Amino acid sequence: MTGLTSGMSHLDAPTVIRTKRDGGVLSDAAIDWVIDGYTHGRVADAQMSALLMAIFLRGMTNGEIARWTAAMIDSGERLDFRDLRRDGKPLRLVDKHSTGGVGDKITIPLVPVVMACGGAVPQAAGRGLGHTGGTLDKLESIPGFTAEIPKGQIRQQLCELGAAIFAAGELAPADRKIYALRDVTATTESLPLIASSVMSKKIAEGARALVLDTKVGSGAFLATEAESRQLARTMVDLGAEHGVPTRALLTDMNTPLGRTVGNAVEVVESLEVLEGGGPDDVVELTLALAREMCEASGLDGVDPGQTLRDGTAMDCFRRLVAAQGGDVTKLSADVLPLGRHSDTVRAPRGGTMGDIDAMAVGLAVWRLGAGRSAPGEQVQFGAGMRIHRRPGEPVAAGEPLFTLYTDTPERLAGAAAELDGAWSVADHPPPGRPLIIDRISI
Ligand code: URA
Repeated sequence: MTGLTSGMSHLDAPTVIRTKRDGGVLSDAAIDWVIDGYTHGRVADAQMSALLMAIFLRGMTNGEIARWTAAMIDSGERLDFRDLRRDGKPLRLVDKHSTGGVGDKITIPLVPVVMACGGAVPQAAGRGLGHTGGTLDKLESIPGFTAEIPKGQIRQQLCELGAAIFAAGELAPADRKIYALRDVTATTESLPLIASSVMSKKIAEGARALVLDTKVGSGAFLATEAESRQLARTMVDLGAEHGVPTRALLTDMNTPLGRTVGNAVEVVESLEVLEGGGPDDVVELTLALAREMCEASGLDGVDPGQTLRDGTAMDCFRRLVAAQGGDVTKLSADVLPLGRHSDTVRAPRGGTMGDIDAMAVGLAVWRLGAGRSAPGEQVQFGAGMRIHRRPGEPVAAGEPLFTLYTDTPERLAGAAAELDGAWSVADHPPPGRPLIIDRISI
């Protein structure tokens, strides 16, 4: 420990980096200075990259995390929708955020389910990060859909429709820059950086209650259940400190969610859920999170499952997509983009599908072009994977297990190689695991 940076009369990036590199604790002043400096271009990408790596390696105290989060919130505006009314009543402003998973398309069916239950969801969504996909990259595969919507439109949509899904934009702009930098500097898997990133956006976006989906397992950013629990607890406490009641579900991310991973392929699967079908795990998690959101926002006596069965959630989704410029006539598997080139992995023998490693699938899909390797890179909307057999399902020798899609065929071999050793066909099903592991609240 090299000592504190508090009391520094003059702050500079090399000193801040060195303090953290050597295991020191950053002072409030140093944190405020470096976040403000990076937001306004006085701290260079190279310097922030070095600091992020030092944080990744050395961690942060709870006090540092709280200050880093507050500084990121203060880097932009904090939205406030408390004045909005529908039918003369204040809106039930509630949102959800996931710490990042593979095949995690849950926001896409969840937001319309909560709309249909009477909630109002101001959803500041993100792009892909590391091996995980991003809601915005997925939704932008719908022709015309835009998440770059002005504040006035967000307010209008919340009142008239009950949701807006938007790029964080001027909310926590420090997070926008740091998030993009983490994505390409191998600094995503850090508890302080995840907690501050999630909570700065979510506190700034104007939700009055928040439900977090904290992932546990091989496809989660943090390696152990204990770390994921600590992440959930840290975020729940940050929410409370900023007056946003927050609760978290701990959910399994050892295996990808559903049968698709990628951009447009996940929108197609979400449409299946909204039509009352779709994979069981996607439906189970959507409804569990919807129940939490309804309860957290005081919506009593509603049945989120009914909104999938009676089509009201689908109606809400179509209205939301249309309001944000999306062409609702293109909301079908035949029309949404699918990579022009494909490769299929087949079963070497008959038996039962074993576990499928979520991290390997996430990396394979990233290699297919669904994610970025440089900041601002355009993702391929058609890149993705179909998982034909989920863990525990019967498998016949020679049948397709995974189909990989991309527009750039030279990516196929590398992506397929990521799957080597990541799945198996066995004589017996793998041990079952609960999807919802625990619930953490104040
Ligand atoms: N989601 C975020 O917004 N940030 C992270 O760091 C991880 C998931």
